[in-house]
Amino acid sequence: MTSRRGASPASGDASRVEQLRSRWDEHGRTDPMWAVLTDSAKSGGRWQAEDFYAHGSAEIERLMKRLDELGLAHQRQSALDFGCGVGRLTNALADYFEHVDGVDISAEMVRQAAQMAPNRDRCTFHTNVASDLSIFPDDLFDLVHCNIVLQHVGPQLTRSYIAEFARIVRPGGVVHFQLPVKPAPGPIGFVLQLAPKALLNRLRGMSMHGVSETRVHALLYSRGLQVVATDPDESAGHRWISRRYTAVKPAKGHSA
Ligand SMILES: C[S@@+](CC[C@H](N)C(=O)[O-])C[C@H]1O[C@@H](n2cnc3c(N)ncnc32)[C@H](O)[C@@H]1O
Repeated sequence: MTSRRGASPASGDASRVEQLRSRWDEHGRTDPMWAVLTDSAKSGGRWQAEDFYAHGSAEIERLMKRLDELGLAHQRQSALDFGCGVGRLTNALADYFEHVDGVDISAEMVRQAAQMAPNRDRCTFHTNVASDLSIFPDDLFDLVHCNIVLQHVGPQLTRSYIAEFARIVRPGGVVHFQLPVKPAPGPIGFVLQLAPKALLNRLRGMSMHGVSETRVHALLYSRGLQVVATDPDESAGHRWISRRYTAVKPAKGHSA
């Protein structure tokens, strides 16, 4: 388990990072598994750890099948799970990769991941209270993975983290992440689009943000990644249109 606080990010980023840390630490202390998978039947500590980690295994099994279909991720030494929470998906990735690093902004989530994840002997969990991933060198991971995290951080930090994903994935490696596009059509989507963000965030407790597909693609290409697939996604819930992006960092000597 390691811990790092950011040095001196831009001040807007710094206050957003601190806000996220404080909110997610609170979730970590009160009902961490429910905060990760917000099924109303499981609130109040009603997730059983076994079911919770099995849910993660099923999700990663689907991802690995998809990567196989796309002919990707044949090297399986190291993976990163960004926004790992209590290690639901970090743990599942360790069934496929020799070693998995899980990173989270909440020390409380990381503490519990390191205690509870069944595959914890093949995982290292890090607290990273920062708008970058400078705890990792360039070109390190075979897979950089992130699910149901960027939707909470906001567009500015999302851009910073995606740029970092591109930096730390190795040439030939894969970046895979989920991100909503926009609220789904319908009365609730209409309200989500028009209501002031600050008010919505207070009502929800967990803020949600979308970024258009075009912007995400442009960002990935600008960071030298090649977009291989943009798949529909349901993990943001029925009120959001969401996507899973899979991109590859070209091997040395090939350009995107
Ligand atoms: C909904 S949970 C998802 C956890 C995990 N990805 C999963 O699916 O099981 C969101 C997680 O993202 C973490 N998080 C939020 N903002 C973050 C940031 N800026 N950097 C790292 N982790 C962050 C939260 O602490 C929380 O554990």
